Amino acid sequence: MLMDLNEKIIALAKRRGFVFPGSEIYGGLANTYDFGPLGVALKNNLKREWWKRFVENRDDIYGIDGGILLNPKIWQASGHIESFTDPLVECKKCHKRFREDQLKDKSKCQECGGELTPPKMFNGMFKTFIGATENEGSLAYLRPETAQAIFVNFANILNSFSPDFPFGIAQIGKAFRNEITTGQFIFRTLEFEQMEIEYFIKPQEWEKAFEVWQAEMLNWAKSVGIKETNLKFREHSDKERSHYSKKTVDLEYNFPTGFKEIYGLAYRGDYDLSVHAKHSGQKLAYKDQRTGEEFIPHVIEPSFGVERSLLPILLDAYYEEGERVVLRLLPKLAPYKIAVFPLLANKEKLIEKAKEIYQNLKKDFVVIWDDRGNIGKRYFAQDEIGTPWCVTVDFQSLEDAAVTVRTRDTKEQERIGVDKLPEYFQNKLSQ
Ligand code: GAP
Repeated sequence: MLMDLNEKIIALAKRRGFVFPGSEIYGGLANTYDFGPLGVALKNNLKREWWKRFVENRDDIYGIDGGILLNPKIWQASGHIESFTDPLVECKKCHKRFREDQLKDKSKCQECGGELTPPKMFNGMFKTFIGATENEGSLAYLRPETAQAIFVNFANILNSFSPDFPFGIAQIGKAFRNEITTGQFIFRTLEFEQMEIEYFIKPQEWEKAFEVWQAEMLNWAKSVGIKETNLKFREHSDKERSHYSKKTVDLEYNFPTGFKEIYGLAYRGDYDLSVHAKHSGQKLAYKDQRTGEEFIPHVIEPSFGVERSLLPILLDAYYEEGERVVLRLLPKLAPYKIAVFPLLANKEKLIEKAKEIYQNLKKDFVVIWDDRGNIGKRYFAQDEIGTPWCVTVDFQSLEDAAVTVRTRDTKEQERIGVDKLPEYFQNKLSQ
């Protein structure tokens, strides 16, 4: 049977160690996945790029790493206890559960055609207990968004850094949601990572700032290899918008199953700082040191999912040429930058030389050693995991101190001096 692109990516992700089903040997746990060696490398590279772009390369954005567990009063104040809810329906026949708002046909079960229960509002936050007793007083929640840790640290950033206005606070971290809809691979999971910015602005400047961040969001997606032709923005209707938002635009990607949200951009007004000021009794305002003007900033929030980035990146990088499968990942994202091989795996001298080159390159790059099968098979194996360059040490290398460097996307081969390799790859990676 022919596999569609989605199935091919899921199969490749498992076979080559990017993504494994969660708790697999115990029959799995719905909507959970584990990342293998290549998946974690890809994720780390993506997060590093994001942090570099939005925190390190800018003067106006401060990074934090807030807690997953926060004082439950925060969720009371933010409105999540009351409003972070979805309508749940259950099939009376097969007992499968669905989010009613995500059903195309709300009149019957999409699995067995059975009758559905009336919708019941269901809170998406995971509960846990702090301490030895499990009661109302010890109840806590796993954060469903990283954003709140940013709002509650707003005053700390003002006090420690006295930032000029406008400025932002960024965070990358896990978020948890008790998702009901199953079977969407890493698109919708119970735990996932968000890369979020709360960008504080003067109220009258929100429209301009929204436009700027919309362009930033698109540029970021393109910068990690997502094709612009597969992207479009969609504005939320009044009914669909979150309780805190005055305007929301999703960046959607054209998945094999249709356009779906990968990132969200929201204008949260002064909702969060105002509710936290009210509930905590603390002043959460910005005072312009030059003019003396004091006001509650409004906020624009670009929110990027890590796993929601990975899927489009993998889908757009996937390429087939006959039997050959290639992940044309951007080198900066590729789990391994370079593979090193001895031409033959049973020639001591070749192995020795290749190991020396491998150890040397490892000081500066993420490198993989491969001496299984023949050269053709090794190229195939490296293409499939997106390694941009393969270095082969052959008999001539022992005489001329040069190696063959083969480029994944062009299949071109060049002869490069061993002493020139670090500079050669450094140049390639900085292009
Ligand atoms: N702070 C705003 C916020 O959390 P959201 O649209 O609910 O807004 C932001 O989530 C992003 O988080 C989404 O665009 C998506 O990338 C990611 N995301 C949300 N729920 C997810 C889930 N269950 N699994 C994977 N990623 C998810």
